[in-house]
Amino acid sequence: MNPQFQHDVLIIGSGAAGLSLALRLADHARVALLAKGPLPEGATLYAQGGISVVLDEADSIASHIEDTLSTGAGLCDRDTVEYCVSRARDCIQWLIDRGVPFTRDNENRHGNTYHLTREGGHSHRRVIHAADATGQAVEKTLEELAREHPNIEIFEHHLAIDLITSARLTSKPVSKLASKQASKSGAPAFETMKNRCLGAYVLDRRRERVVPFAARQVALATGGAGKVYLYTSNPDVATGDGIAMAWRAGCRVANMEFIQFHPTCLYHPRAKSFLISEAVRGEGGRLLLPDGTPFMTRFDPRGELAPRDIVARAIDHEMKRLGVDCVYLDISHKPAAFVREHFPNIHRRCLEFGFDMTREPLPVVPAAHYLCGGIVTDLRGRTDLPGLYAVGETAWTGLHGANRMASNSLLECLVFAESAARDILATLAETAAPPPLPAWDESQVTDSDEEVLVAHNWDELRRFMWDYVGIVRSDKRLQRALRRTRLLQQEIDEYYGNFRVTGDLIELRNLVLVAELIIRCAMARRESRGLHYTLDHPAPLTGSPPRNTVLTPPSGHAARSALTG
Ligand code: FAD
Ligand code: SIN
Repeated sequence: MNPQFQHDVLIIGSGAAGLSLALRLADHARVALLAKGPLPEGATLYAQGGISVVLDEADSIASHIEDTLSTGAGLCDRDTVEYCVSRARDCIQWLIDRGVPFTRDNENRHGNTYHLTREGGHSHRRVIHAADATGQAVEKTLEELAREHPNIEIFEHHLAIDLITSARLTSKPVSKLASKQASKSGAPAFETMKNRCLGAYVLDRRRERVVPFAARQVALATGGAGKVYLYTSNPDVATGDGIAMAWRAGCRVANMEFIQFHPTCLYHPRAKSFLISEAVRGEGGRLLLPDGTPFMTRFDPRGELAPRDIVARAIDHEMKRLGVDCVYLDISHKPAAFVREHFPNIHRRCLEFGFDMTREPLPVVPAAHYLCGGIVTDLRGRTDLPGLYAVGETAWTGLHGANRMASNSLLECLVFAESAARDILATLAETAAPPPLPAWDESQVTDSDEEVLVAHNWDELRRFMWDYVGIVRSDKRLQRALRRTRLLQQEIDEYYGNFRVTGDLIELRNLVLVAELIIRCAMARRESRGLHYTLDHPAPLTGSPPRNTVLTPPSGHAARSALTG
């Protein structure tokens, strides 16, 4: 018989958002923490630059708020920005108390003991960091604490497929079985419940079986969706699963058109778009054309430290104008010891590819880096579906507007994990445990006979998203991309309905849906703003306040999507 897991809180995702949520809950609740690969694998592990926080005497919360609003190109939600920025210091202290080894400033130059670096859009030194591997320091410290906590049960290599809601169960024949089981167990029948999230079906990749996880509250902390593009700084787990699951369960998503392309990823066939931190520019690195000419001040008076949308577009423009494969990032004018001290990991990694950044410029190109949109949430991390929270890159809180300011993302993970934890703990006692959930039904499916379809469609999707929905878009390109997405969706739905699920298939199904949501949001925005730039509407709309792009799932969408294998 298949097992059935039952916890107070199910957290899907173990990056900065999932881990900090788990640790904030665990003294008071039993938590299941899922990761679809090894626990640390996710964007958090690779974060370099740091976390923004006001610590410098010359800086202020008001200035951090203004920089965030200005970088967000008119679309940040001021309440969210104020909420988040004003809680930064407490969240950083929480990390310090847990042992995160942030780099110290031995000279105490800015009235505090930690070194602060600079990144694009920030008008002050405001980025606390652990050398150039901040994410690793955060992830590893929190991982260790989570592994030691008796109330946190960790499930690695467990991939959530879909959320289980009471509405979905009552709309399926399988729910009859579940109702009988429920009434026998004395728990309420699904039909009598208000719609809420009850858990998730999860693929245990090692045992190759799908098991239901039931919980009183569920949180998505599944990260971003960079893998929808051919070139990305993101790790392989970034396939937008949380957004796709939430959408299929009836939640709204917003601002999916705002994909941030990081300006400087290493250009090398084997580097997989390895990131060269913005902090390199923050500490004096300059962008050069192949002939050695600097070019950024032609595009923005802030030069190399203009917000990312501007720098990435400038590089894209210059590469297309000159027909070159990359531009160059040069910090070799700084003393070699300074470069090695500030960027030990980047320096070492570049050496592995044959580049010594203390002596020569690095070849760089932009790559998809961060999703500013996501599942609509409020300040407590609540989504549209009762019992479901979303935290971290998967959520849309309104913090980033049309362009995220550097190092505000880890901050958002920490702040909203804290507020979601507070809300979950306040409501947990009054939330009944779900009744036993029906087993995953595989009676209608067989093993796949054509794995090549998954591999082919995955490649095709990522390539046309890069070509048609990238840094520069147009109406025609978006229409082309949407047509192709629909074709892929048909094929994948058919395949999903007929064959036993695999990790690749589940991720591809999610990626295609996320691609569709990105394209639809991009088509709805008939202007250029922040990270969304289109040749057909090159200027921002004026005259009325800028609007967010909010998409609502069609009613019955959840019922139509296959819950069973
Ligand atoms: P992640 O850390 O990506 O974790 C996602 C988790 O969800 C993983 O555990 C994964 O296994 C799990 N998961 C996903 N889908 C499923 C599923 N279906 N079932 C089960 N588990 C699932 N931001 C900053 O603020 N400062 C920086 O310096 C910085 N540098 C960056 C450098 C790089 C190279 C990258 C890629 C991003 C950087 N960012 C930075 C952005 C920031 O790192 C991310 O936005 C942030 O770490 C996201 O954290 P998260 O917890 O939301 O998701
Ligand atoms: C970087 O170090 O350049 C990444 C910072 C971020 O994405 O916020």
